[in-house]
Amino acid sequence: MTGLFVTLEGPEGAGKSTNRDYLAGRLRKHGVEVLLTREPGGTPLAERVRELLLATSDEPMAADTELLLVFAARAQHIAQVIRPALERGVVVLCDRFTDATYAYQGGGRGLPESRIAELERFVQGDLRPDLTLVFDLPVEVGLARAAARGRLDRFEQEGKDFFEAVRQTYLRHARADAGRYHVIDAAQPLAAVQADLDELLPSLLERLHG
Ligand code: TMP
Repeated sequence: MTGLFVTLEGPEGAGKSTNRDYLAGRLRKHGVEVLLTREPGGTPLAERVRELLLATSDEPMAADTELLLVFAARAQHIAQVIRPALERGVVVLCDRFTDATYAYQGGGRGLPESRIAELERFVQGDLRPDLTLVFDLPVEVGLARAAARGRLDRFEQEGKDFFEAVRQTYLRHARADAGRYHVIDAAQPLAAVQADLDELLPSLLERLHG
């Protein structure tokens, strides 16, 4: 595959979408074709699965059901959108991917990493992000930002311990593979976060063309 697969991760309220749009603008200025997408979702069918995942309901969702729905949506997204774009040489900027599964279903829900890894191999084969930006934020700050946005979805209603486990899982994975992950302090003012992204730009362009 000749494109570049970049994922953006972090808690709710970390500014992933804003910064994804910013990075896309910078890349496009350099003549790069960029595709913006997100998980869960990214195709009409996967967006319907997203609705199932985010909706609150009287029937509790079993953790394994949640895990399988996340990967069902991902299988569709990869087949319909991600692989074809990478094969065309496009830079895919994806708001969340499998690192969110390790963080939320693994860290948050307590599912074993080995089960997630098994599904990762099954659904993705050898597809892994080339670069993962982790927008790191203290839990209270993220929760306050999410609350300020209005009605909370099924994940946002989780407590502080859940989000602390999510955060620590992201940071642990990032420490274990400094080549793929880049941690950005999302508590900084937006201009400082975007300056960090500007610094990454030359290496991204080099990887794309090199
Ligand atoms: P967001 O994309 O608007 O942040 O919301 C998506 C929610 O879905 C978020 O709370 C994290 C959650 N999620 C998982 O639990 N596992 C996953 O694999 C993905 C991609 C998202």
